Amino acid sequence: MPISSTNQGVSSQHPKVLIVDDESDIRELISLTLSRMQVDCLEAETLSEANQLLEQHGEGGIQLCLTDMRLPDGNGMELIYRIQKQYSQIPVAMITAHGNMSSAIEALKAGAFDFLNKPVELQTLRNLVTSALRLDQQKQVVESCDTGPELMGQSVAIEKIRQLVTRLARSLAPVHIHGESGTGKELVARMLHHRSHRCDKPFIAVNCGAIPAELMESEFFGHRKGSFTGATQNKEGLFQAAEGGTLFLDEVADLPLDMQVKLLRAIQEKSVRPVGAQKEEFVDVRIVSATHEDLAAKVEVGEFREDLYYRINVIELKVPPLRDHPEDIPVLANYFLSQLAEEMGRSAPRLSDSALKRLSHHCFPGNVRELENLLARAITLNDSDVIDAEDIQTDGRKNQAPQANSFVVDNIESVCEVGLESYLETVERQILEKALEASDYNKTAAAKKLGISFRTLRYRLKKLNMD
Ligand SMILES: Nc1ncnc2c1ncn2[C@@H]1O[C@H](COP(=O)(O)OP(=O)(O)OP(=O)(O)O)[C@@H](O)[C@H]1O
Ligand SMILES: [Mg+2]
Repeated sequence: MPISSTNQGVSSQHPKVLIVDDESDIRELISLTLSRMQVDCLEAETLSEANQLLEQHGEGGIQLCLTDMRLPDGNGMELIYRIQKQYSQIPVAMITAHGNMSSAIEALKAGAFDFLNKPVELQTLRNLVTSALRLDQQKQVVESCDTGPELMGQSVAIEKIRQLVTRLARSLAPVHIHGESGTGKELVARMLHHRSHRCDKPFIAVNCGAIPAELMESEFFGHRKGSFTGATQNKEGLFQAAEGGTLFLDEVADLPLDMQVKLLRAIQEKSVRPVGAQKEEFVDVRIVSATHEDLAAKVEVGEFREDLYYRINVIELKVPPLRDHPEDIPVLANYFLSQLAEEMGRSAPRLSDSALKRLSHHCFPGNVRELENLLARAITLNDSDVIDAEDIQTDGRKNQAPQANSFVVDNIESVCEVGLESYLETVERQILEKALEASDYNKTAAAKKLGISFRTLRYRLKKLNMD
């Protein structure tokens, strides 16, 4: 079958979609559906035909590509990679066999903006095309948004997150952010939004654990007046409020199972039905989710649906606890001090060496938020130019080294709180620091004191970023 362009004769102002599938029935079904939406279609049966059409029409001439996975001369994945590389402005959606979640995920990871299950459901197809075509109009927007919030820190871990955020912001794949409380998950979610094509649209954050179960459906999808007692007016839901933008599902592990089913449907079909409404409404939102819990483990015990897990967890972004990047403490501390001082209309105080040392030795179970709070307290209590160790009130219990003669931990909770590895690291860090202090920072003497070789000491210091 030769390369063909259907819907010819209609105005060339119409957006163009490239359909790549070896089954003519599917191409026909799609192009018929799209022609009713004033969209022109280019059809290709093979990868090489698709490549030819891409060359012919170029980046500006095609607004969306829909491709099948298995093609006579190769795999649709190859096309995704090629488009990513050469025509990165063209969004691609993969058509996959129903239930073949792994290839759908693979496609999303490779940069596809969405996928479509076979047999193709026409309303889902129409919604997908509508949101892809919007992208085209949003392309110019991204330059005009300000950069939004910034992740501070110079450690390798933070630098990696910054790079990943920049890359992921452009894609539309759902991102799941995992990390302990106070590590900066919401900040990362906001950055993803601010750097995306959606930056001029709303960012709506919702704490899934804070909505009463009986109100959940109406909170998420809205309701019609009179649909239940107390529904005195039409109300829009969170999905509608986030229209065109990003919906941030915080503490997503707290969603009850029945709501998980409804959420999955809404994400998959890009439509929601307000409580009491007859018709579904099209919604175009990017889903970013976060939790401090182990979502995979929740799937394992049946508390989180596997299908929803795969849908929202296409790309996982891990935010490390502060104790894993203590080298960022000084940068973060100075950043917060200058922010806080600015809010208070005063000049930023300096941290004394002893204050910095105290901060560096604290293990921060509450992570960056705890650091911010400690400094807020310090700056409020002290209006001089220097903040000293005494001004920083860390929780002593967590800060103190264990008693030298008590190798048995009687309070297992304090270990569980931070995890064994990092508990031991903290203990080790403190022992090394004390040994060095007691030997006037002579490493040979410190090693002797501890009954280890100089090499071992050097290795351990390096491992803990203490050298
Ligand atoms: N790397 C960072 N640079 C600057 N500020 C940060 C950084 N990490 C966290 N913060 C700040 O620390 C505070 C806590 O961050 P955030 O609310 O994003 O944490 P979270 O992981 O969502 O916490 P929780 O799980 O408790 O909701 C915020 O004020 C945030 O701006
Ligand atoms: Mg949060």
